[in-house]
Amino acid sequence: MPSRRRVLQGSASLAALAALIPWLPAAAFASGPLPSRAIPSTGEPLPVIGLGTSRTHDVALTDEALGPLRKVLQTLVNGGASLVDTAPSYGRAESVCGELAARDGLRQRLFLASKVSSTGRAAGERQVEASFAALRTDTIDLMQVHNLQDTSTQLSLLRELKEQGRVRYIGVTHYLDSAHESLLQVLRREPVDFVQFNYSIGERNAERELLPYCADKGIAVLINRPFQRSALFERVKGKSLPDWATVELDASSWAQLMLKFILANPAVTAVIPATSNPRYMADNILAGQGRLPDAAQRQRIIELFA
Ligand SMILES: NC(=O)c1ccc[n+]([C@@H]2O[C@H](COP(=O)([O-])OP(=O)(O)OC[C@H]3O[C@@H](n4cnc5c(N)ncnc54)[C@H](OP(=O)(O)O)[C@@H]3O)[C@@H](O)[C@H]2O)c1
Repeated sequence: MPSRRRVLQGSASLAALAALIPWLPAAAFASGPLPSRAIPSTGEPLPVIGLGTSRTHDVALTDEALGPLRKVLQTLVNGGASLVDTAPSYGRAESVCGELAARDGLRQRLFLASKVSSTGRAAGERQVEASFAALRTDTIDLMQVHNLQDTSTQLSLLRELKEQGRVRYIGVTHYLDSAHESLLQVLRREPVDFVQFNYSIGERNAERELLPYCADKGIAVLINRPFQRSALFERVKGKSLPDWATVELDASSWAQLMLKFILANPAVTAVIPATSNPRYMADNILAGQGRLPDAAQRQRIIELFA
């Protein structure tokens, strides 16, 4: 049961979110703190909405460029979320995340995920050390082999770092339907805590095998490309959100409906939409609250985007 302090913190966070997105109805903020789901390998709870940083966080480390991203991160933690996914291949994103966490003393409130995308042990070691430095941390919560590059070598490196306590969880990632079979092959032979892949209303291949496999084997699932970058917004451009999305599912924006569609799959642990806009961050956090669609409602959502 949440303590009184936690409940009060939750209400304060929701009030902060409400101030950021005044166009949403007050009822949108009435649902309470952001839910979490358990990481199967430990049972540790992870809030269901996180933040991606590809492109959005590749900015100069100047006050002007960092300003909106600082608000995004503050909104994330004020909204009860913690997961930030970055990578050395996202330009300056890792350094930006490290700088923002340091400026506001947020490291302990974040679940930091990064990646290794190297070939060969020595190159992997160098890249991982650079990630610790850029993120300004002694412990990275999750390290993932990016796009299955040199998977066995890099996973063995990450496993050693986990044994040393420098990395808490390890995993693998990809972002294409065409790589799902390769991901499955890796998951069948390599023990990992997490897998990250693409899944959305527009890309549903993961429903066939990957998501059921992860649920069955107890592997935490992070979902990338939930909006297919921004392509899914184009499909509903000019259309109003139907009333039933709000009345039946507590969704007050298209983004929330898309994220709720993903979270309705019980195999999903968390989803990581990227944004540089604090209002979008608040909007995305609200997707984690309230009701999720059942099978019939999911079908109606698919038809809206057809
Ligand atoms: N191989 C891999 O490991 C891999 C591959 C792909 C992605 N990823 C991870 O997954 C994350 C997410 O994927 P993605 O960045 O490709 O695409 P995405 O999250 O599907 O889409 C990001 C875009 O959506 C917009 N957006 C976010 N919230 C919104 C809202 N509430 N309303 C309207 N627009 C909104 C953002 O706009 P603004 O720019 O205006 O904020 C941004 O341009 C990445 O950032 C990365 O961390 C990993």
